[in-house]
Amino acid sequence: MKMKIDMITRINVVKTEEVAFEDVETCLVVPAYQKEFPLSSAVLTEEDELVLQALADKEVITGKAKTSYYLPAPSRGYKGVLVLGLGKRDELGAETVRRAAGDAVSKFGAHRVRHVYLDVSGFAEMPVEAFVEGVNLGQYVFDAYKKAEVDEQPTLVSEITVIIADDVDAESVGASCQVAALLSLAANGARHFANTAANDMTPSTLATAAEEIAHTADSQCVCTVLDHEKMAALGMNALLGVARGGEEPPKLIILDYRHPDAKRTVALTGKGVTFDSGGISLKPSAKMHEMKFDMCGAAAVLATMMAVTHIKPAINVIGVVPAVTNMPDGRAQTPGDIVRAYNGKTIEVKNTDAEGRLILADAMAYTVEKYKPDCIVDIATLTGAVVIALGQCAAAILGTDDDAIEQLIKTGERTGERLWRLPLWEDYEKMMEGTHADLCNIGPDREAGTITAAAFLKQFVGDTPWVHLDIAGTAYGLKNVSYLKSKYASGFGVRLFTRWLMELAQEGK
Ligand code: BES
Ligand code: ZN
Ligand code: ZN
Repeated sequence: MKMKIDMITRINVVKTEEVAFEDVETCLVVPAYQKEFPLSSAVLTEEDELVLQALADKEVITGKAKTSYYLPAPSRGYKGVLVLGLGKRDELGAETVRRAAGDAVSKFGAHRVRHVYLDVSGFAEMPVEAFVEGVNLGQYVFDAYKKAEVDEQPTLVSEITVIIADDVDAESVGASCQVAALLSLAANGARHFANTAANDMTPSTLATAAEEIAHTADSQCVCTVLDHEKMAALGMNALLGVARGGEEPPKLIILDYRHPDAKRTVALTGKGVTFDSGGISLKPSAKMHEMKFDMCGAAAVLATMMAVTHIKPAINVIGVVPAVTNMPDGRAQTPGDIVRAYNGKTIEVKNTDAEGRLILADAMAYTVEKYKPDCIVDIATLTGAVVIALGQCAAAILGTDDDAIEQLIKTGERTGERLWRLPLWEDYEKMMEGTHADLCNIGPDREAGTITAAAFLKQFVGDTPWVHLDIAGTAYGLKNVSYLKSKYASGFGVRLFTRWLMELAQEGK
């Protein structure tokens, strides 16, 4: 299975006097701030402006965030107008626009809109790229296993024309929209992988996808896949212990992207448990099917690598994915087993369901030793505790690289991938000491479960500055984000990582 950037939305940027409406299902989108009428649009006909103003007078249209109004206009160049509520002017942020676009998607679908004209000629401050992202993420459907009924195929927006004022630089608006289109479609690639059923999404599937990313022409990227034998020879017993109960061969997947002008090397490691049954410490059955999403970290890393190979920022990026299934069979790892990890530390596996940290331990210890990155970041659906702490509103961020943590939090505020830092005091590390081994894979009780998991991971990165993201609450099932359907994975991390790497490259750090 190939991870691909599917169907790039065509983006055009035009000045107001250049607008010519195409003769297909078009929709003119006019943004509106709360209680700021008349509407500001250079291309709206006078008749429609009057109708919309009358509706605003009656407070049918308010400009409030999360409201949009569609007015059919069959006899105009455009076939309908959508008033896009942005809320209060001084509260406008990229996420407001992204969510407004997500809301608008259902109206575009209902009215079979193919070409959107977004008139921001009176809204120079609007982050247009967030609109592009909201449309692309909002339009994503996962129907790979459904019978294809031709007449049921949804109409999708395939072209966005941004209408700008004369004094705005069309090239820079166009470039930032192109990046947004690419990143949101890469995020959809990650979502697609995560949504795919675990019987089709195995460690081998992830390995093949990584190879295909590297084999794309001019990728500047090399893929290496370590199999069971190689990992055994290297002493990766923490990872292999998890894989023992499953029939699927485990893989350690490495994508090595190099740029000739790079000043820094960043490693990204993503948890790739393609199914987490809990192993012998079996999970309850009610929500076990959701554990196909336990490879969302891996999907985020692969999709980021795919975006990076397209955008080519001047930074070296190593994408690392330890991929296994966590299953209970006669040969499975049992509670109380002791394994020696790649870095020589011994681990008492008191709970086989705390498997993510075991596979990340070997993957990260190997990565810091072999690739010597300036910073290593891991992303994982690691603990149920993070869902209790932060719900679906933010992922937890912890680690030792304060600068990277600060930058990632800032970037996440812009991309709508919120991060909240938790502390990592030494006391937590003490809680992870083993009874009979150097370390135990669980804490003494359920307290601070997200932090103790991170404290465990810290034992495997040596002195390398490190950042850990726990995305168990944000990787799938998000209920209140208009541009993400709750039955799907969210693609959390892809836009965040890629934009952060682009910023680092630009700073020349
Ligand atoms: N994959 C789970 C974490 C998870 C929970 C992801 C809910 C998504 C939603 C992880 O492997 C796990 O089972 N962690 C245990 C650790 C515990 C045994 C210390 C948990 O959080 O319960
Ligand atoms: Zn688990
Ligand atoms: Zn897991």
